[in-house]
Amino acid sequence: MRVLITGAGGQLGHDLVDTFAEVRYEVVATTHASMDLTDRDAVLSTVVSAEPDVIIHAAAWTAVDACEADPDRAFAVNAVGTRNVAEGARRTGAHVVYISTDYVFGGTKDGPYREWDEPAPHTVYGASKLAGEREIDSGHAIVRTSWVCGANGNNFVKTMLRLAAERDTWGVVDDQRGCPSFTADLAVAIKRLAVGRLPGVFHLSNQGPTTWYGFACAILEAAGHDPQRISPITTADYPVPAPRPANSVLDNGAWRLAGFEALDEWHAPLARIIKEIT
Ligand SMILES: NC(=O)c1ccc[n+]([C@@H]2O[C@H](COP(=O)([O-])OP(=O)(O)OC[C@H]3O[C@@H](n4cnc5c(N)ncnc54)[C@H](OP(=O)(O)O)[C@@H]3O)[C@@H](O)[C@H]2O)c1
Repeated sequence: MRVLITGAGGQLGHDLVDTFAEVRYEVVATTHASMDLTDRDAVLSTVVSAEPDVIIHAAAWTAVDACEADPDRAFAVNAVGTRNVAEGARRTGAHVVYISTDYVFGGTKDGPYREWDEPAPHTVYGASKLAGEREIDSGHAIVRTSWVCGANGNNFVKTMLRLAAERDTWGVVDDQRGCPSFTADLAVAIKRLAVGRLPGVFHLSNQGPTTWYGFACAILEAAGHDPQRISPITTADYPVPAPRPANSVLDNGAWRLAGFEALDEWHAPLARIIKEIT
């Protein structure tokens, strides 16, 4: 099976490439430098010459605050870029797994978001990723995930460890809820969906909702620091250009109903990643 992975230089793409490192798979790993999503000719020629059986499309412009200031760039990469990937897939018969986000929802629901809930993004990033979802042909797959952390790349875990080295105390938002998702676990689950060519929308995250403050305390504890150095603050105390969803919790219902076991509760993969990066 030949698997083309976009965004191989990113945190999820890196672990997807690792997960497919078996003799029975041939991996074509594309990066921003090797295949710019916004260049239709480059995407079509790369996909057509690779003739993949499956495309896992993990590349995106993920800088949520920067997206607010440059919607055209956000839509060029996340929507038109995905249109280009979908067109390449159509020409080669490849099955597509498009990686999407909790930001397609507004975050106002009282309870976990189901795959069948109506998206209503409140940010340019979320709207551009939803536009990308709409470029995916039916019969292919969309995987929405949240609060992504991997050993490779920048993420919340690394930010908290950096702050622990730089500051005595700091505040972390305690009124936004979500489920952390670790790329090593996500990659294995995405591989199962991709190899099985399962169609439809799937929510995938590690299990157990928390707040950013709760997550930060656990990161400090796991790295041997005193979590009391962090204090809980509110969203209003920490203004940012792109409004963050208050509720990002994704019910992994479609995954569960397909007969798969839930991903680990998030403390276990957190301990693994802390060990790997410290
Ligand atoms: N991070 C999260 O918390 C989160 C949450 C939910 C969903 N997701 C989704 O999960 C997927 C993977 O996220 P991630 O955290 O692994 O992101 P990431 O580390 O930012 O990786 C994304 C990759 O896409 C590449 N890229 C950006 N613009 C491109 C372009 N025009 N052409 C080709 N490649 C381009 C980036 O390359 P450069 O860095 O060189 O530009 C980067 O290597 C994304 O689809 C994202 O929307 C992420």
